Amino acid sequence: MNKLYDNHNRLINYVRLAVTDRCNLRCFYCMPEEGIKYLPKEELLSYEEMERTIRLLVEMGIEKVRITGGEPFVRKNMLEFLTTLSKIEGLRQINLTTNGTLTAPLIPTLKKIGIRTINLSLDSFDKDRFYEITRRDEFDKVLHTFEQLLFHGINTKINAVVMEGKNIEDIIPLAKLTKEHPVSIRFIEEMPFNGTGSNYPTLNWNHKKILSHLQEAFPSIHKIPDPANATAAHYQIPGHKGNIGIIAAYSRTFCGTCNRLRITPQGMLKTCLYDSGVFNIKKVIRSGATDAQLKDTFLEALGNRAKDGFEAEQKRKSGNAVSESMSTIGG
Ligand code: 5AD
Ligand code: SF4
Repeated sequence: MNKLYDNHNRLINYVRLAVTDRCNLRCFYCMPEEGIKYLPKEELLSYEEMERTIRLLVEMGIEKVRITGGEPFVRKNMLEFLTTLSKIEGLRQINLTTNGTLTAPLIPTLKKIGIRTINLSLDSFDKDRFYEITRRDEFDKVLHTFEQLLFHGINTKINAVVMEGKNIEDIIPLAKLTKEHPVSIRFIEEMPFNGTGSNYPTLNWNHKKILSHLQEAFPSIHKIPDPANATAAHYQIPGHKGNIGIIAAYSRTFCGTCNRLRITPQGMLKTCLYDSGVFNIKKVIRSGATDAQLKDTFLEALGNRAKDGFEAEQKRKSGNAVSESMSTIGG
C-alpha cells in the first residue's frame, strides 16, 4: 500500500469530493438569497472523471473519500456513482455530508453500498429558525432523515454552524440530543465562505466561547480523546450516549495534522480549504494526460502545500480574502 506525504511530512489519506455546486437550500452563511451562478454541466467533473481521479488517488495512498456539495443528492444518478466508487479496491471508507432534504428514502440503499457514516448539516432543531437560516421550508424532511439515520444504525454526525444572532439558543438543545441518541453533535465556527464577499476580521463565537457556553450549562462536560486527524475537539457529558465536537474552522487550530485534499465540483484541487485552488484536474484530464502524468501533477501539488490555513489564505492567487460560496468548495 502506497503512502502519500506532503512537503511538511503530513500523511495525506483523505479526499473531500464536492460533486455539485447546486443546492436546494439557501443557508445564509453559504449562499446569498438569490443563489449563486451555478456551473454549466460541461464545467463539472463528469462521473467518469471523478472515478478515474479517485482511483488514481487511492493507488497513491488515499483511503477515505467524503462526498459533499452543494447537496450531493441534487446531482442525477448519485447512487450509481456511489456504487461505482464503492468498488474501487483499496478505498476503505466512503462518507457523505448531506443537508437531509432528499436523503431519508435513500438510506437503506446507502447502507447497502457500504456508507457507514453520514454527516447531516442541521443548524437548528427549531422549525422557524431552520427556515430563517436556510430560507427554505424543509425542516420536516430533514428531521425525518435524522430519525431514519438513527433507525438504520448509521453513524450520524450533525454539523451545526454557530452563528451569532441566529442559532445561539440552539446550542444547548442540540447538545442535549446526545443524552438519548448515540450521535455526535459538532459545533462549527462560522467561516466567511458565504458567496457574498463580506468578510470579518474576528469571530465572536469562536471555539473557546462555544466551549465555555457548554460548560456553563453542563458543568460536568469533559474532554474525551480525539480520533487521529480529527478537526473536532471532542467532549462528552457523563451519562450521555453521544458526544460533542467543536470545530475551530475559522481559528484553524488543527492544520498541523491535516490529512486531506479537496476537489471542487469544477475539478480544482485544493490542498487547503483556504487556498484558491492549486490546479484544475478537469483541464489536465481533458488535455489527454496519462494516469502517470496525472499522478505526477498531484505529487507536485503536494510538494508545495501551505503549512496551515493562514499561509494558504495569504498565498491566494486572487490576492483577495475568501468569499466564495461553501457550495463551490464542499466544506
Ligand atoms: N462556515 C462554517 N461552516 C460552513 N458550512 C457551510 N458553510 C459554512 C460556513 N460559512 C458547513 C455546512 C456543512 C459543511 C460541509 O460545511 O454546515 O455541514
Ligand atoms: Fe446547501 Fe449546505 Fe450551502 Fe446550506 S450550507 S446552502 S445545505 S450547500
